[in-house]
Amino acid sequence: MSVATPQSAPSIRHLVGKFVVVVGGSSGVGYCVARVALEYGAKVLISSSNQTKVDAAVSRLLKTNPLFDGSISGLTVNAKDVKSIESFWDKVGKFDHLVWTAGDSVRPDFMQQDIETQKAFFDVRFWAPVISAKYAQEKGLFNPGASMTMSTGVVNRHPMKGFAIGAAVSGAIDSVTRGLAVELAPVRVNTVSMGGVETELWDGLIPDIHMKEATKKFLIEHSLVKHLAQPEEIAEAYLFVMKCTNVTGQTIEVEGGALLT
Ligand SMILES: NC(=O)c1ccc[n+]([C@@H]2O[C@H](COP(=O)([O-])OP(=O)(O)OC[C@H]3O[C@@H](n4cnc5c(N)ncnc54)[C@H](OP(=O)(O)O)[C@@H]3O)[C@@H](O)[C@H]2O)c1
Repeated sequence: MSVATPQSAPSIRHLVGKFVVVVGGSSGVGYCVARVALEYGAKVLISSSNQTKVDAAVSRLLKTNPLFDGSISGLTVNAKDVKSIESFWDKVGKFDHLVWTAGDSVRPDFMQQDIETQKAFFDVRFWAPVISAKYAQEKGLFNPGASMTMSTGVVNRHPMKGFAIGAAVSGAIDSVTRGLAVELAPVRVNTVSMGGVETELWDGLIPDIHMKEATKKFLIEHSLVKHLAQPEEIAEAYLFVMKCTNVTGQTIEVEGGALLT
């Protein structure tokens, strides 16, 4: 399997030699973004809070394609901790594209959980990329032509019962996308919004196997594409916003028509 080089066709060499940081790259959608960015010739740093998971993701990628050797690295960050985030960026230094897919498990039980727990739902998905953006801008870490892409879900527009704060977090990410696009310009800032996607996130969210199967069936029935979204499909949207130098302040919805059913 090949990877893009400076000699590749113009449409597939946008990321050759670019440094792409994927926070949340140890699993799910972020892992797939990392793999495709490597195929497009980028140097990729994978990050998440767990060293074992970061190391496993790096090894898995190297097994996928030996040509990735020398282009992948891994570094941990605890996105719940401001000092850890700042120290992470001090170690990373200048970069071309930030992809933020990190997210912890958010249980959809608004009435059962105390509000302090639910306030913390904003930490990893909303505050951590916002803190990162501000810090990277202050320290001059965005290279010319840089972009950042965050992640959210359609729960913002179609909340399910129990997920009031999940919807609030999703909406906040959508809004701050436009705010940061104006604030950081010419750095481009976008967000990818997804419906249900079959990833490791579900292991924490829906541990019961029967419940998981019922969720899959529900999602397929309530889609127009009539299949369950896979992380590889969602990764395409992140690659699009990284490569297209004229898109900023946008939330791209990749939800298989779920909002139209
Ligand atoms: N999958 C879906 O159905 C779905 C639907 C709508 C929206 N989304 C959103 O899309 C994003 C990506 O989802 P996904 O399905 O790819 O999730 P995933 O497979 O669970 O990946 C989440 C990543 O975040 C990292 N992470 C969690 N807590 C962290 C912390 N404190 N500091 C740093 N990294 C942390 C995880 O690694 P560690 O455990 O090693 O930290 C992992 O790499 C998430 O924001 C999610 O909420 C997903």
